[in-house]
Amino acid sequence: MKRPILLLMFILAVCSCGKKNNSKAINIIPKPVEMEVGKGNFLISDKTIISYNKTELKEAAEYLAERLADETGLHLSIQAANSSQSNIVLDYNSPEEISDAYTLNVSSKNIFIEGTNPRSVMLGIQTLRQLIPLEVNTKIIIPEVNIKDYPAWEWRGMMMDISRHFFDKEEVKEFLDLMAYYKFNKFHWHLTDDQGWRIEIKKYPLLIEKSSWREFNNHDKTCLSEAVKEHNTDYLLPEEKTKEQDGKILYGGYYTQQDIKEVVAYAAKLGIDVIPEIDIPGHSSSSIAAYPDLSCFGTTGWGTIFSSPLCPGKDNTLAIYKDIYAELFELFPYEYVHVGADEVEKENWKKCPHCQARIKQENLQNEDELQSWFVRQMESFFTSNGKKLIGWDEITEGGLSENATVMWWRTWAPNTVKTALEQGNKVILTPNSHNYFDYQQTSKTLQELYTFDPVPASVDNTSKNLILGIQANTWAEAIPSRERFQYMTVPRMLALSDVAWRYDADRKWEEFYSRLIAHFPRLDKMKINYRPVEIPDLHEKIVFVGTTLVKWDYPLSDIELRYTTDETIPDKNSPLYTDPFEIDQSTRFNIRMFRPDGSAADILKILYAKEEYRPGHEGLSSNVGLKCEWHEGIFRQCSQIETVPPKQEYIVESIKVPEGVGGKRGLIYSGYINIPKKDIYTFYLASDDGSKLYINEEPVVDNDGPHGPVTLSAQMALDKGLHPIKLYYFDMNNGGFINLKLFGSDGREVILNNESIFH
Ligand code: ACM
Ligand code: ZN
Repeated sequence: MKRPILLLMFILAVCSCGKKNNSKAINIIPKPVEMEVGKGNFLISDKTIISYNKTELKEAAEYLAERLADETGLHLSIQAANSSQSNIVLDYNSPEEISDAYTLNVSSKNIFIEGTNPRSVMLGIQTLRQLIPLEVNTKIIIPEVNIKDYPAWEWRGMMMDISRHFFDKEEVKEFLDLMAYYKFNKFHWHLTDDQGWRIEIKKYPLLIEKSSWREFNNHDKTCLSEAVKEHNTDYLLPEEKTKEQDGKILYGGYYTQQDIKEVVAYAAKLGIDVIPEIDIPGHSSSSIAAYPDLSCFGTTGWGTIFSSPLCPGKDNTLAIYKDIYAELFELFPYEYVHVGADEVEKENWKKCPHCQARIKQENLQNEDELQSWFVRQMESFFTSNGKKLIGWDEITEGGLSENATVMWWRTWAPNTVKTALEQGNKVILTPNSHNYFDYQQTSKTLQELYTFDPVPASVDNTSKNLILGIQANTWAEAIPSRERFQYMTVPRMLALSDVAWRYDADRKWEEFYSRLIAHFPRLDKMKINYRPVEIPDLHEKIVFVGTTLVKWDYPLSDIELRYTTDETIPDKNSPLYTDPFEIDQSTRFNIRMFRPDGSAADILKILYAKEEYRPGHEGLSSNVGLKCEWHEGIFRQCSQIETVPPKQEYIVESIKVPEGVGGKRGLIYSGYINIPKKDIYTFYLASDDGSKLYINEEPVVDNDGPHGPVTLSAQMALDKGLHPIKLYYFDMNNGGFINLKLFGSDGREVILNNESIFH
């Protein structure tokens, strides 16, 4: 049902562009709150003057002139005060408190951007940039509009992890430009982690000397093998991030304090605050490698899942980190500083005499409270320096202090949001299910991201005003290059931009999608290595009976779809898809999209499988629900679950984790599924970590392996009646879920409940 509507949208969009003046195709992201479009135009030429009515807007005027010169080749002059001559006028007047609100009025005589402060004038400038047509000559036609605009949320953030792989200051600035274009205003800079320390701290020079360069680690090796396997240069480690030392190739890099100041100043000009994160007490192997005494036992190491943390039992650990943060406070002139505090492996603390002495001396109950004590110590240091602390949502465990801001990431722990809000703490939403842009884009559709409500259902309306906003996080374990970083974040950040700006509005996917499509030529012009939008209605496995039409309705006309059917990797010489074609045999397609500049996207591997309808059975069982066995243990593959005897058995009337099942779990669901009619069915299997679905003892969806939330889909031709089902799922004890949905070819869902599953 989805495709015809979408198709109609394109046809309407294309037709309306064709008929009307091209300049009226207005596609602003994020969508302005109020916009009236007039009949006329304003023409920008090299005679147009930009004027600013307040001295504080000089930088904004210069920025606009630079961007116009870059994008159109027109060089406009700038002047300090409004006069009868000035045609583009920048001003701000309203009170400071209404931050981020602006108006943009374009008439045939002038363009007037008025903000409530210099930053919001910059937001108006970004809107104006998006009104500039792509094709320009000596005059630029700007349509008459009256825009009144302001965001739903004050915090519209993007996090960049530059520890796992390093991005230099120019790469960071390029990303800041893109953030500003889409009205993001908080840049969260993840500066340290186990795999690298990346900021100069003058008092502790070994942090950089010992921990900013490394021999290739498993992340680097995985990237390099992906580059080879997938013929994808985006996975290569950039040469400038490697060096030879003592006969070894090292990978890394760091920022001097001067670099940091330069980036912070650049961001400030764009209206973006920079929030530094030095992650403690976990994720600290890089500082421990430089100063081993920071740990409990003088060494780096790993526990079951996470690295061995700092030792909060030693006074010196606190003293050193206070020194480090003191230098940080000087570099970042903003109120918020991020302390990390996620994923702390507390086994060492249980064995460490210093930690145990601290627990006793401070009357703490356990290691969770020790972590909480440590965070509070840092927080009071932050407060005495006029800073506010942000921590990942683990800071709610063991007692949350009143003033800390919680950054929620564990989708599976929504209660941390509720607890924090009920206590009056502020919260920033970065749910990993949707807002982790390092997860493969195939793991969630863009539509799922756009239509997802990031506010957990348990949050009531009154406490919603304590939510500062939303953010996406891009962890860089598998992202070694600027190209890969852009591929992972774009177009997802465009969807998130609209959600952050228009959270309260009645957002419609089809409406957003038509605006989004119009942005790809802009992204091409900006040389962004984006991921092209998905081909509608593709699944890992598409099943047909007899013959079928291979039909890829693709909305981006500048993108080439090339494919192979011999399992080789498509290149620029592979067959080009132009029109639908028929197949009568099972065929494995490797599809690859090529952008107008010739660069390639990831390969899509799609099996078109010719099958017969699997016969259904009658009367096999009428016992309602599926059998569900819990096997306790840490599994990395579904096949390992059965190697451990079941601990408990349940009957479930839907696919869910039964009450009482612990975190370390392998679950096996088995029984029969009642298929209502002969049809081709699509199974969507979503899980965190791995899962695997068998119908009639045949594998249907393979979502195996340790991973975050991933949805995969595949089809099977099924006749009416009962069909054996077996579903494996495991979670490695870091929080997870399982979800299975089933749809007929008419798009209707077959709900898995007490009427459709038996054992
Ligand atoms: C996180 O993803 N560990 C915050
Ligand atoms: Zn210790």
